[in-house]
Amino acid sequence: MAKDMNRREVLGAAATVAAASAIGTSTAVAAGRGQAPAVMSSYKPLVVGAHNGNRLTNDDGETGVAIAYRMITAGDDVLDATIACNNLPEISEEDTSVGYGGLPDANGDVTLDACCMHGPLKRAGGVAYIQGVRMPSLVAKDVMMKTNHHLLAGQGATDFARENGHRVEGDLNSERSFKRYLEWKKRVEEEGDNRTFAELDLDFIEKKGFDVAYQMAEEGRIDIEHIHGTINTNAINHKGEICGNTTTSGRSFKVPGRVGDSPILGAGLYVDNDVGAAGSTGLGEMNLYHLCSFLIVEKMRDGMHPKDAGMYALERVRDFCMGNERYMNEKGEIRFNLQFYVLDKQSRYAGVAMRGGEGRFFAVCDDNGPRHELMDSIYMNE
Ligand code: GLY
Repeated sequence: MAKDMNRREVLGAAATVAAASAIGTSTAVAAGRGQAPAVMSSYKPLVVGAHNGNRLTNDDGETGVAIAYRMITAGDDVLDATIACNNLPEISEEDTSVGYGGLPDANGDVTLDACCMHGPLKRAGGVAYIQGVRMPSLVAKDVMMKTNHHLLAGQGATDFARENGHRVEGDLNSERSFKRYLEWKKRVEEEGDNRTFAELDLDFIEKKGFDVAYQMAEEGRIDIEHIHGTINTNAINHKGEICGNTTTSGRSFKVPGRVGDSPILGAGLYVDNDVGAAGSTGLGEMNLYHLCSFLIVEKMRDGMHPKDAGMYALERVRDFCMGNERYMNEKGEIRFNLQFYVLDKQSRYAGVAMRGGEGRFFAVCDDNGPRHELMDSIYMNE
């Protein structure tokens, strides 16, 4: 097991990257089709993302969204700010949904996906199924800046990371994540009449594994939000520059080889500098069917408020899944979660979830400081 990386180390790295990537200014503003263009000389800086962006702190007591807000108001590149936010959970074993200590696949291997999108530069980068690199969000940025490609996957992504100065380790399990994995594996074997894991077929492992992961979450052994992992953070600065970053260890105990929505443009993240940004956490497969982040941004382009656009995407997913027992609970409701974090060019924002209720938050930072706000949702958990 590798050790937790010093948080100063990562924030120092992010600041260096920020200094090295100054961007041009962009002042053109276009509102949605059918809307009068909003002409603004200055925009309200804002950071919006998943709840884990406002959970862990650096040595100065700042949460991820607070770091990002400080950076964008100090003139740092907006993408670097969102990445710095996400680096905090990436390097910490306390967050079992991303980076180091992310819950592994069914073989016990931690594999990571990430993507980023830079509104003003109109560029994006991503990595999928990368192993051994704690901060895949920084590798995604290198793919964006140093190649003409968007997505590098598997061994090629890991090799690219090494060649570009990222530390590559043998195993990103923490003691905590591997303990959770062993418990999950034991329970799946028990469900399979005590056949060994090697004797069970993948389909059984996948189906039972899903149920067992939910059961462990209900018992408080794993964070329910970490079954599908992920952090997404989006931001806009006073110049109206919009960027976003999504990073994940993917669905916990997934079938080896599985890649979810997070590294896919339009699914895990989408940014249009004239309109806004949307990113996702939750069951990636259901997001992929509808490319919801793209859908949300397009709905905002047509004039929808971020909340309405996010709820529209959730309703599409709900209607698509209705009647499929695998995704329904005993009440006939969708049982999985899928969340979107959305902001627009007018600095309006929303966090929306398939399943919300008490304790289901998203993270925000603006001139009122860093905070959690309750998600709007289709279903409420009791
Ligand atoms: N949304 C993260 C995943 O499904 O991989």
